Amino acid sequence: MLSEKMLKALNEQLNKEIYSAYLYFAMAGYFDDLNLEGFANWMKAQAEEEVGHALRFYNYIYDRNGRVELSEIPKPPKEWGSPIEAFEAAYEHEKFISKSIHELAVLAEEEKDYPTRAFLEWFINEQVEEEASVKKVLDKLKFAKGSPQIVFMLDSELGTRTPKLPSLLMQGE
Ligand SMILES: [Fe+2]
Ligand SMILES: [Fe+2]
Repeated sequence: MLSEKMLKALNEQLNKEIYSAYLYFAMAGYFDDLNLEGFANWMKAQAEEEVGHALRFYNYIYDRNGRVELSEIPKPPKEWGSPIEAFEAAYEHEKFISKSIHELAVLAEEEKDYPTRAFLEWFINEQVEEEASVKKVLDKLKFAKGSPQIVFMLDSELGTRTPKLPSLLMQGE
């Protein structure tokens, strides 16, 4: 059984994952508006994966006999000053999410909630990937220094990304 404190924290993280999806949809909208469809595709794939993260929390809460409680999702920004600024914001956001996951792990340890601590292992590793993949694009954009040729090349590269989505609904994981 989850403690009330743990349940509340897991529900809060579920909300943060939904907000992450929301933020990346907003960024996709920004890139589609610039006709940078590859960047937009990358952001849509990112958003889909975030919905997958939220579902993992959702399913886990019920596996532990908890109750999912949804709360308001903050409105994400609509505009960024440049593609670099959008990716800088994405990078900051992923670092914030990593910190939040680490705090959950600390709480699980304090509560001696070993199943939750084990469940969070996947997210701890996933956040390393999340930060690295955003940073990779950010570094390339910085390197491009606004050169349209490099930005267009990067756009076609990012257009090939497809979301890695485990069939969470099927597995009931
Ligand atoms: Fe996430
Ligand atoms: Fe993420």
